[in-house]
Amino acid sequence: MDSIPKILVADDDERTRVALADILLTQEYDVVHARDGEESVRKAQAESPDVILLDIRMPRMDGFEVIRLLKADRFTKLIPIVVVTGEDDVELRVRALKLGADDFLTKPPHAAELTARVRSLVKVKAYNDYMRHYQATLEAEVRERTRELNEAHERLKSASLDTIHRLSRAAEYKDEDTAFHLHRISNYAVAIARRIGLDGATTDSLLYSIPMHDIGKIGVPDRILLKPGKLDPDEWMIMKRHTEFGAQILKDSESDFIEMGGVIAFTHHERWDGSGYPRALREEEIPVEGRVAALADVFDALTTKRPYKEPFPNEKALRIMREGRGSHFDPDMVDAFFDIEDEILEIKQRFRDDGEGMLRQLARDEP
Ligand SMILES: [Fe+2]
Repeated sequence: MDSIPKILVADDDERTRVALADILLTQEYDVVHARDGEESVRKAQAESPDVILLDIRMPRMDGFEVIRLLKADRFTKLIPIVVVTGEDDVELRVRALKLGADDFLTKPPHAAELTARVRSLVKVKAYNDYMRHYQATLEAEVRERTRELNEAHERLKSASLDTIHRLSRAAEYKDEDTAFHLHRISNYAVAIARRIGLDGATTDSLLYSIPMHDIGKIGVPDRILLKPGKLDPDEWMIMKRHTEFGAQILKDSESDFIEMGGVIAFTHHERWDGSGYPRALREEEIPVEGRVAALADVFDALTTKRPYKEPFPNEKALRIMREGRGSHFDPDMVDAFFDIEDEILEIKQRFRDDGEGMLRQLARDEP
């Protein structure tokens, strides 16, 4: 032990205290005195002694109460308590033991016995302190390692999300010149998903899965994908297959995001009334993520400039959305869409393709 062990001697009788202290001081212990129960508790908390020699019959608070309080306090419960009593009372000893007393000495103290008891309890206390410190160090180490692991996990997750996003952009690169298309439809979809009460995990996944909806366009030849005019029926057949290609590319992934991306790629052109493609699914046969993606994708197509059309004004786009209720779109979802119309229009404004909206957003986010 590095420092000098400190012994708290608690007794209302000064002669006993001094007698105990004299013996302890010859052994080079530090001695702290307490004259009653309350002072004993206060000094035990303030001085963190290594051993307490405790009288039972004391004014203001008796020794039993002192033991009870100190053993209930996590800062003092490991300090060994030696009850020093003049009485050879078994009941008293049993009661003190039950409360957590560690040892007994009979008054008047015998020097050799006292020093032997104190020395061994100081060792016990030192060992307990060491173990407590060791445990605290171990716990701190585990916390630190967990934090590092979580950080590494977050970095991996964000790298993988970044990859997903860039893959999605690569798929859109040729035919979509709308810079913020992916941001808009993800945010529309998340806002609608929240409104209809989808759980938090699904809503979060949507944010990262929706951008993959058209990834299958990679499999559509350029002569069809980039054809300026109308597609003939054969070309249209191939164009429609981007849903299947997307599902093929994304299927069997261990990542929930990619798995959901596959479902969305396969079903985002299905329609509520069964007139969609590729499988002409109806109503709730269409997975909910496919239904929400359909709504978000169509609204974005209506309100942005495309090679073949100017953006429709909001009123016209909203009217078309309303007309699609129950035919193209899930009616509950259309209702949710109009419930949060302001939020939808705010997302549209925030991710405007001229980039000004985004710049304003960035400026606003600056500290
Ligand atoms: Fe599509």
